[in-house]
Amino acid sequence: MSNYHIKHLEEYYQVYRKSIREPENFWEEVAEEHFMWRKKWDKVLSWDFSKPEVKWFEGAQLNITENCIDRHLTTRGDKTAILFEPNSADEPAQHITYKDLYKRVNKFANVLKAQGITKGDRVCIYLPMIPELAVSVLACARIGAIHSVVFAGFSSSALATRINDSDCKMVITSDGSYRGAKSIDLKGIVDDALEDCPGVESVLVAKRIHSEVVMKEGRDLWLQPLLDEASEDCRAEVMNAEDPLFILYTSGSTGKPKGMVHTTAGYMVYTAYTFKNVFQYREEDIYWCTADVGWITGHSYIVYGPLANGATSVMFEGVPSFPDFGRFWEIVEKHKVTQFYTAPTAIRALAKEGVGYLEKYDLSSVKVLGTVGEPINEEAWHWYDDNVGKKKAPIVDTWWQTETGGIMITPIPFVTPTKPTYATLPFIGIQPALMDENGQEIKGNQVDGRLCIKFPWPSMARTIWGDHQRYKDTYFSAYENKYFTGDGALRDEVGYYRITGRVDDVIIVSGHNLGTAPIEDAINEHPAVSESAIVGFPHDIKGNALYGYVTLKEFGETRDHNNLRKEINQVITEQIGPIAKLDKIQFTAGLPKTRSGKIMRRILRKIASKDTSNLGDTSTLLNPEVVQDIIDNAL
Ligand code: PRX
Repeated sequence: MSNYHIKHLEEYYQVYRKSIREPENFWEEVAEEHFMWRKKWDKVLSWDFSKPEVKWFEGAQLNITENCIDRHLTTRGDKTAILFEPNSADEPAQHITYKDLYKRVNKFANVLKAQGITKGDRVCIYLPMIPELAVSVLACARIGAIHSVVFAGFSSSALATRINDSDCKMVITSDGSYRGAKSIDLKGIVDDALEDCPGVESVLVAKRIHSEVVMKEGRDLWLQPLLDEASEDCRAEVMNAEDPLFILYTSGSTGKPKGMVHTTAGYMVYTAYTFKNVFQYREEDIYWCTADVGWITGHSYIVYGPLANGATSVMFEGVPSFPDFGRFWEIVEKHKVTQFYTAPTAIRALAKEGVGYLEKYDLSSVKVLGTVGEPINEEAWHWYDDNVGKKKAPIVDTWWQTETGGIMITPIPFVTPTKPTYATLPFIGIQPALMDENGQEIKGNQVDGRLCIKFPWPSMARTIWGDHQRYKDTYFSAYENKYFTGDGALRDEVGYYRITGRVDDVIIVSGHNLGTAPIEDAINEHPAVSESAIVGFPHDIKGNALYGYVTLKEFGETRDHNNLRKEINQVITEQIGPIAKLDKIQFTAGLPKTRSGKIMRRILRKIASKDTSNLGDTSTLLNPEVVQDIIDNAL
């Protein structure tokens, strides 16, 4: 069968049409040919978006780690699976072969078992980008435990919320982490979090920075001695197709984070198939995605997708600016990276530093470039194309989400002609729809609307952990029988999609989704604060930055405003993490509200973007007088 690797545009259209006309036959063929099943499925797909309920490959049994590791042992045992590049450029890279990975994952899995972790238990992983992160993810999958990776930049309070929401029994962490010239006390953050997490029975601690940490008797265990003792063999748990593989939290526009639940078979099939096609992956390639495994990009396109293809996946611990802004390019040259996948915010940050850092290195190995996480502006797109790809490496602008599990709208390199700022065409099997405000689908080209997907795809999240109603309300209620993405998009004259951004109260800052409500909740905890509203405003590097409008209680008014600003950002850092800090904080006497008391964010967004030309009719507001005051004092 040839449809695993698409080679030209005609073939894309052919395969696409087939995937839409006969989705079950199509995905069955992909699943048949390329994976190791303990038992094949009875039914390829059953679905009902009104519940919503989606099942792929029902009746099938498998273990994803046998697909990502075991089946490569005979053909690629000595090939590098994970190429670990440490934070410090002076520390040697580690080439972890498929054979090594097999042993390390099995040992780790045996440690988990010895600590009483069994199928279905939730394990929270709070680790930096070190090999133990990928190994622990796979070790959970090996024994059927559900991993919940929390990005190691989140604060103790955000970590505690996530641990408790999914009742994790165990936390896997390290003494600390390196981040450029800094080191971070991860174990201390975990200790703080666990004060509020009574369900956690044990903590496994990897040594990375060799700092002094407090080990709590009866709870905390050093990982390495346990691994040293553990056996290299561990039978893979036989999982049902729809057994949960992992939970990954994403911000909602309201309330607490949503634990998106991804299941086993469909997720595996779709991430593997997209990886191979979207990066035109070949056996000898060295693929590098710069994301963190703490985000979906890392789950699907550092760990599962690449390993399911027997690829070599680079895992980088550090930051693009350390020891200088040439680090990415030094790594590309050193390891002869063939596919390079990063975020627009990183491209903008590097572009700002000039091409000098780039010109020192030989980037001729690069065949394909990718971007993900937010819309890429035209300038950044051209900078990437001209300087990194030298106009020879197509850019795949991949649109997708934590919820979608895998890439949804994207060019296929060397197949789809690219167009700056356009994610171009739906991937095989994906049926997008643009909807108008009345809930009608907008047909034809040169139109824009709200982006929905009208047919299930294998890697879609199945629910929100512990809150199926919220899953339904958030994604399946705005438009009947459709998955609503929360994004706006336009379709150009040839049917290419361009994602225009969020249409809800999620703001994407440096590629990270941030809900306004949790940040406002954090700010409002400051004793001097009465009320707050957060909006995004355009930022050269971050894409968007956060602007906070804050009203103070009476006694707050007498306080020094700069100190208050620092304290507010401190509260945000403690509650969520430094990624959610505000760039600008304007203290104001009131927030513009409708008569029903709803804050008019549209007006605040315009003021923050310095666009006060067309604020609309403000006379119907409850408090129209505050608008001029806010404009006059805008930052
Ligand atoms: O608004 C879209 C934006 O990122 C959101 C999803 O964020 P998250 O769940 O954190 O996953 C990011 C990594 C897959 C989307 O709703 N987004 C993602 N990719 C793009 C994008 N916006 C424009 N272009 C993209 N390529």
